[in-house]
Amino acid sequence: MERTSVKFLLLVLTNLFFFGASSSNNHGYHDFLECIIHEFQLLNSATDLIYTPQNTTYASLLLTKNLSPAATAPERPELIITPRQESEIQAAIHCSKMLNLPIRVKSGGHDYEGLSYTSQTPFVVIDMRNFRSVTISGDGKTAWVQTGATLGQFYHALALRSRTLGFPAGVCPTVGIGGHFSGGGFGMMSRKFALAADHIVDARIVNADGEIVDRSNMGEDLFWAIRGGGGTSFGIVLEFKVTLVTVPEIVTVFNVTRRLEENATELVHRWQFVANKIDDELLIRVFMKPDVSPTTGNKTVAASFSSLFLGRAQDLLQIMQREFPELGLTEQDCLEMSWIESVLFYSWFRDQPLDVLLDRAPRIPTYFKGKSDYVSTPFPLEGLRGIWRFLIEEDGSELQFSPYGGAFNAFSETETPFPHRRGTIFMIEYDVEWANLHQSEAHLDWLRRLYDYMESYVTKSPRAAYVNYRDLDIGRNNIEGETSYEQASVWGLRYFNNNFERLVRVKTKVDPNNFFRNEQSIPPISVLNKNRKTSQSNIYID
Ligand code: FDA
Repeated sequence: MERTSVKFLLLVLTNLFFFGASSSNNHGYHDFLECIIHEFQLLNSATDLIYTPQNTTYASLLLTKNLSPAATAPERPELIITPRQESEIQAAIHCSKMLNLPIRVKSGGHDYEGLSYTSQTPFVVIDMRNFRSVTISGDGKTAWVQTGATLGQFYHALALRSRTLGFPAGVCPTVGIGGHFSGGGFGMMSRKFALAADHIVDARIVNADGEIVDRSNMGEDLFWAIRGGGGTSFGIVLEFKVTLVTVPEIVTVFNVTRRLEENATELVHRWQFVANKIDDELLIRVFMKPDVSPTTGNKTVAASFSSLFLGRAQDLLQIMQREFPELGLTEQDCLEMSWIESVLFYSWFRDQPLDVLLDRAPRIPTYFKGKSDYVSTPFPLEGLRGIWRFLIEEDGSELQFSPYGGAFNAFSETETPFPHRRGTIFMIEYDVEWANLHQSEAHLDWLRRLYDYMESYVTKSPRAAYVNYRDLDIGRNNIEGETSYEQASVWGLRYFNNNFERLVRVKTKVDPNNFFRNEQSIPPISVLNKNRKTSQSNIYID
């Protein structure tokens, strides 16, 4: 690009910025803009990769599933960069460090608390959407997938190669690889193949020094940390190399709903004794939400048993007859299809063309708050009845019970940062959605009361949580990313249990100045010691 046209663009962008800026204090954005345009000029990069709120496409770049009420009135970024080359990411890190204007990295934008695109202090977003290639090896055993790809784009690429190629990751196709793989990645094949993160065999990341490293030179500690230690903390992951799995040509799905008046309580209770022990090929989740009984017209709860079986219907029926006859599964309930069709089925895209998986836009954004728990002792019937009372109270609510067991048992608690392995019967996800921002407090209060009610039924010491269902209620670093050991260990132990301390040690080694940070990023030891309340933190560095 010619120097004069770059100067002209700089003038246009900065004018746009200043005319549109709502605040008289531009928080260093102008300097950042100048810096990044200068860097892009050196790289011969296009300046149309930089967006301010005045660009017409800015709003669509921030469109996500969650309208994110939890962080009240959080700041939106004044600048979004959508790099196409790795060197442009390095340039953004350089400008961010030089001007002390933090960055947030966004892949699919599905963070439950919106931490990839909101903050309480000024910041710039690096949006990875242009890094979305999928390269499958010649033998179909591995793939490099860039982190800006969505699960849908990844699954689509696998389906184009072969009907029997699959990958065990999440259900929603608009979830991004960057956040999802970094925090685990649970899906309908997880009892057979565990988590997405368990399949990572290499990765390329931009580290806190702005260098690009891969497994051969990042060190095994860092490679361990990025396979479940959560997004953000250790660098910007450019791409992951993963092992793929072979799926049968035909799999079977079912989705059977029973309401309270159809014995749902006893069925969910019984499910707890079956779900983590049944054949590894079979995963049965339960989704519970308020409903209206078609027979009585009264409020009730509907429990949907939603399943993927890696095999034919006849075999599934035999297993169900043997292990869970109470559900009364019939041949009519079972649908045979290819694995990729099952992906469409569970994304509510049944019978639609495969290309719908390429769409990145969430369907209906709502206000949303989620929480999670783990269960290692089955609920008594009375405990379930208490949950029903909560669900009936809140129209936009849903609980998901996701079974573990199977392949989860093949991993020790410390093999990756994700500790919820042997002994876990199932994970609970609590969701509440609503449309009216002004009613947020009432919905959040409902969810927090339910969470309190659940305390006596779920894992304790520590009560556990899934980092990919991020929940700032369980503690946060302050706006500078700083925290005390006492504060950080609340969420740290819930997400990672004893692995939290190793994550802190890795962070201290690779990012001692805490460049990559957010409200729940892993803090380095210097931050913990600075803020420690007790005389010593429990963490020692080699
Ligand atoms: P987003 O872009 O918001 O990133 C999440 C976090 O990772 C942020 O902190 C971000 O900064 C960081 N990050 C993103 N890209 C990065 C990169 N390249 N390098 C370093 N850090 C990066 N989970 C599950 O296990 N199974 C499931 O089936 C589902 N389903 C589901 C459905 C819906 C509708 C939602 C909203 C969420 C889920 N999830 C899920 C949870 C999901 O796994 C979790 O929210 C992921 O972190 C989302 O990843 P994204 O890249 O989309 O989010």
